[in-house]
Amino acid sequence: RAEPISDETDAISITELREAAKGCRRCPLWHDATQTVFGEGPDDARVVFVGEQPGEQEDLAGKPFVGPAGKVFNAILDEAGVDRQKIYVTNAVKHFKFEPRGKRRIHSKPNAGEVQACRWWIDREFALIKPELAVALGATAALSLLGKAIPVTKMRGQVIEREDGLRVFITIHPSFILRIHEPADKEAERERFLHDMKQVKRLM
Ligand code: URA
Repeated sequence: RAEPISDETDAISITELREAAKGCRRCPLWHDATQTVFGEGPDDARVVFVGEQPGEQEDLAGKPFVGPAGKVFNAILDEAGVDRQKIYVTNAVKHFKFEPRGKRRIHSKPNAGEVQACRWWIDREFALIKPELAVALGATAALSLLGKAIPVTKMRGQVIEREDGLRVFITIHPSFILRIHEPADKEAERERFLHDMKQVKRLM
């Protein structure tokens, strides 16, 4: 753990890596975002959850999953018996990407180049934390972790083992639940996500 992990940062801890990421210019997204939203949680977590990118509220707070998707995520983790204090939560892309619409900032999906640029950080987070399991929350996280597009709704609940031995559990992004309007469908999707989180709990 005491080895410098690259020639561009001597970060030997998550705290140092987070500090280095504040000045990231690896893709253009830093320009319009408020700040880098780095991962959060114990640096010896056994499980790392990976989302897509910070949303509006995360951009302002500087912390991952504190907005509407984070509230759903926290509630379901709690129901599944997963202690958020014990997990590390991060995003595939660490700056908020948005389209301005009047005074509002509308979430815009990061592209493959932005995901690739930000792998520099996520690879280092994993190298320092060395978790046993990663949870890919949605397609962008799966792309970042596995380097290829994954049909998430088809493959959810499955574990894919990477060449380096990291096991990656595939599931949907919690904001998917928020986007469903029909109450019965929304509840059914919430139950499916809860089921996935209970499976993660068993794998921990
Ligand atoms: N959605 C994400 O993917 N990440 C966050 O931090 C918040 C919402």
